[in-house]
Amino acid sequence: MDTVILSIESSCDDTSCAVIKNGLLMSNVIASQKVHEEFGGVVPELASRAHQQNIMPVVDAALKHAGVDKKELSAIAFTRGPGLLGSLLVGTSFAKGLALSLHIPLIEVNHLQGHIMAHFIDPSPDYVASNPKLQGVTISHPKMPFLCLLVSGGNSQIVKVNAYNDMQIIGQTIDDAAGEAFDKCAKVMGLPYPGGPWIDKLSKEGDPTRYPLAKPNMPHYDYSFSGLKTSFLYTLRDLMREYKVENVDVLAERIPNLREDLCASLQTTIIDILLTKVKKAAKDLGITRIAVAGGVSANSGLRDAMVEMGKRQHWDVFIPPFSFTTDNGAMIAQAGYYKFLDHDFCSIDAAPYAKTTI
Ligand code: KG4
Repeated sequence: MDTVILSIESSCDDTSCAVIKNGLLMSNVIASQKVHEEFGGVVPELASRAHQQNIMPVVDAALKHAGVDKKELSAIAFTRGPGLLGSLLVGTSFAKGLALSLHIPLIEVNHLQGHIMAHFIDPSPDYVASNPKLQGVTISHPKMPFLCLLVSGGNSQIVKVNAYNDMQIIGQTIDDAAGEAFDKCAKVMGLPYPGGPWIDKLSKEGDPTRYPLAKPNMPHYDYSFSGLKTSFLYTLRDLMREYKVENVDVLAERIPNLREDLCASLQTTIIDILLTKVKKAAKDLGITRIAVAGGVSANSGLRDAMVEMGKRQHWDVFIPPFSFTTDNGAMIAQAGYYKFLDHDFCSIDAAPYAKTTI
């Protein structure tokens, strides 16, 4: 009998649904929400309303693209947390309703574990054929144990992955996440939300040494990004005072390449902070298989720096394809598939949670 898992991801501002059949990814549909752009960040109430509008068409499309009827489903996997409660409630309630109506088990997935499981996605030939960017791309699966740098809009952690169901956070941010530092610094430069991809793009034309920024001095493998955000803000404030202007656009007219140089300086500093701790953890634990996951792993500077460091340190480096870095249903379906094989189901009254550790 086939094992067919349908997943629902709704932890933040992307509504996503994927179908995995016998371990192969058949479909992965994502509806992103544009409504937040004008606010420079995700507005939780608007996010949950948009999830309500998107969830039915997204699930329908995922089943259709997979060529699967809902009667064939073996289980429903859903993101239980961490994330925005209102957003999670929409996905959780929908998953429960679907599982109940089909008399099939429900599987809860931790969103952060889902990001790590993106490294184990096996797209089916049909899925690859309809996603040209995946053609010729090999997704190599790291052997256990490995270290994963998990960097997203809400989290920055180093996780030791011992098995699919055994992960240990060995370091994490004590305040902001790396993605938040990208997004907030982009906002003060007047760039659209989410700022990470913009900073990535502008950095390519900038001088990373132009504006030195503060780096935290954190113990063990922990991170902190709030001081860097302040340092960035003060750099911009001091430049405005020096040039006697009150607006970043006017400042950018006065200082050639201002935004590009600020972006490059910020991106290089964030990458340096992230990789210094990964290098230390890898050395201390004697682990040479190093992966990166989460939305910030889409950053081209981080990807290049990991490959470079991997060469120097003799690591095996694992970087997921772009389409599986930011929030997506495929990673939740993958995590759900392993839980299904372990008969690890959850109760119908499992409530979503906003915060958690792995
Ligand atoms: O994993 P994700 O989609 O959502 C969370 O679970 O948080 O991550 C979103 C974060 C945002 O902060 C966004 O700016 C960042 O990932 N991001 C990037 C890039 N693409 C997305 N940051 C830097 N460079 C990028 N290319």
